[in-house]
Amino acid sequence: MKILITGASGLLGNKIAQIALPKHIVYSGYNQHPAIHGTLIELDITNQAQVESAFKKIKPDAVIHSAALTNVDLCEQNPELAEQVNVEGTLNIVENSMKTGSFLLYVSTDYVFDGEKGDYQETDTPSPINVYGKTKLQGEKTVSESSLDHCIARTCVIYGAQPAAGKDNFALWVLNNLKNNKPMNIVTDQIISPTYNHNLAEMILEALERRLTGIYNLAGATYLDRYTFIKLLAEEFSLDESLITPCDSSAMTWAAKRPRNSTLNTEKASRILKNKPLNITNALRQLHRELDPRNKA
Ligand SMILES: NC(=O)c1ccc[n+]([C@@H]2O[C@H](COP(=O)([O-])OP(=O)(O)OC[C@H]3O[C@@H](n4cnc5c(N)ncnc54)[C@H](OP(=O)(O)O)[C@@H]3O)[C@@H](O)[C@H]2O)c1
Repeated sequence: MKILITGASGLLGNKIAQIALPKHIVYSGYNQHPAIHGTLIELDITNQAQVESAFKKIKPDAVIHSAALTNVDLCEQNPELAEQVNVEGTLNIVENSMKTGSFLLYVSTDYVFDGEKGDYQETDTPSPINVYGKTKLQGEKTVSESSLDHCIARTCVIYGAQPAAGKDNFALWVLNNLKNNKPMNIVTDQIISPTYNHNLAEMILEALERRLTGIYNLAGATYLDRYTFIKLLAEEFSLDESLITPCDSSAMTWAAKRPRNSTLNTEKASRILKNKPLNITNALRQLHRELDPRNKA
């Protein structure tokens, strides 16, 4: 299958491109940071002419639309930019996927929910509380209201073994701090479904290969507050847990509000997919093995 990945330089897109090869022909769209795997293609999703020309050249069978403005506080501070990338950019991808008749998988987020309930199922009604969540939900609507064969994959706090798009992810940031004996305050009042990028990439590829349609929660199977997640990470890597201090999010000076409990119920994915959402113990073990292949635990 000929697959075009947008945001292939990112934490998720990079991993999808890596594992999709050599089974598929992979075109890796990037903007500011060149992608690593597959055939590289410069693709600013907000640039209509560039998107059109990429689709004309590639004629993809399937598109994984992973590119987004993911910095939640930046979205809040610059809603025009968030709208441009997450809404207009998605519209460009949808319109061109229609012209080439490509299957579209849109990567969405737990932040479409307000976090008052948690354990969100695919059928729950979204109600975002920040600009990032609102623009990602508008992106979902653009996809679902089109006549495209499509899948919407919602996920939550992604982590992985490699920096991507010029930055560390939450888990790598914590591991680096712990290795350098740097103390950290981590919030206890944000409950999430942490998601290992390798597991997520496998689930997304399977959904694509099977052309599953509709909404799927593709996330880690364990619900945890951020503090407990980081404690388990430190434990898995035998690092000094005393450097991690629990705190309340009221102590943070974030521009954007965060949902309190945005956990995603993954029963549907567990039932339907061969690649199941991993629980936290198995996911952290696999992350450890990826970072240090000598670790057989
Ligand atoms: N990370 C999370 O915890 C999380 C949680 C829930 C959902 N998601 C969703 O998962 C998807 C992947 O997230 P991620 O963590 O892999 O993101 P990321 O590491 O922050 O990377 C963002 C990607 O989007 C690309 N991008 C940004 N603006 C673009 C533009 N104008 N044109 C083309 N590409 C552009 C970046 O390209 P360059 O770097 O080359 O500029 C990069 O490849 C996103 O749709 C996000 O909304 C992420």
